[in-house]
Amino acid sequence: MKKIGVFTSGGDAPGMNACIRAVVRTAVYNKVEVAGIIHGYKGMIEGNIIPLDSRSVSNIIQRGGTILKTSRSAEFLTIEGRKKAFDNLAKNGIEGIVCIGGNGTFAGAMQFYNEYGIPSIGAPGTIDNDLYGTDFTIGFDTAINTAVDAIDKIRDTAESHDRVFFIEVMGRHAGFIALASGTAGGAEVILVPEAKEDWQALVNYFSGENKSKKAFSIVVVAEGDEAGGAYKIVEKLKAQIPDFDSRVTILGHVQRGGTPTALDRVIASRLGNAAVEALLKGETNKMVGLINNKVELTTFDDAINKTKQLNSELLRLIDVFNV
Ligand code: F6P
Repeated sequence: MKKIGVFTSGGDAPGMNACIRAVVRTAVYNKVEVAGIIHGYKGMIEGNIIPLDSRSVSNIIQRGGTILKTSRSAEFLTIEGRKKAFDNLAKNGIEGIVCIGGNGTFAGAMQFYNEYGIPSIGAPGTIDNDLYGTDFTIGFDTAINTAVDAIDKIRDTAESHDRVFFIEVMGRHAGFIALASGTAGGAEVILVPEAKEDWQALVNYFSGENKSKKAFSIVVVAEGDEAGGAYKIVEKLKAQIPDFDSRVTILGHVQRGGTPTALDRVIASRLGNAAVEALLKGETNKMVGLINNKVELTTFDDAINKTKQLNSELLRLIDVFNV
């Protein structure tokens, strides 16, 4: 392989730049040319492709976001869109791709390989940590640290006012961010889509005798929880507990930005390197991940379709600590 392309796609995640740097430097080390595809699949379709060399990725390891920009492309879901994308890759002499993103990114790469035979290796870049085949996705650690920092700040005001705070975190359909940030933030209750909550227990917790058990409480809610977002949950609780005094904070996109943590930079560097090495060895349609701190390959199919389990031990601990 003489030339590869690299792009980021889907929601950005802190550490993507560290991964791009690792991809470019590993390719250059192996005397392979690299092209950066701007805005992910959208840029592939539009031919927005630039050459990258070792110096193009200087001084980016510490930066959040992605220098290659990102997008969610509806056009790539069409046959015509993918044809245009293939033509642009061919025009630029790109023989293989490293895609950094999540489920949608890998699904696109898989389909593209099936239609055009362009080999691709994925690096898991999403704050959600919802990909099977890796213990950590790039961006997750930074996102949970951002969330914990916010929770710590909210604790101050919650304690001063003796209030209950509902803090909604991202994660799409998964509760990894909620479980990790809630545990580290000392939350009394964590609501995740993977575990159905006992609604009556929740009502009891905030009413009657229990009310005076704790002066203030922190509840972390995953945005994908089946009871709805934090506002809906509070609304429903208020309907059953009329004097329920609480506040809601939605952390939102603040979780996607900021300087990547050291852990995210190390993960991104290892996985970016592993992605190029796998591609050059002739692997395709696979995601590189870290399992028990070792680099492992998982098929795109498994990464997308198998469900990564939440750490049930952590879920149990929330109840234990809530004495
Ligand atoms: O997948 C990352 C993520 O931040 C999810 O946690 C969230 O549900 C979604 O992206 C938000 O997407 P957008 O930036 O398109 O609003």
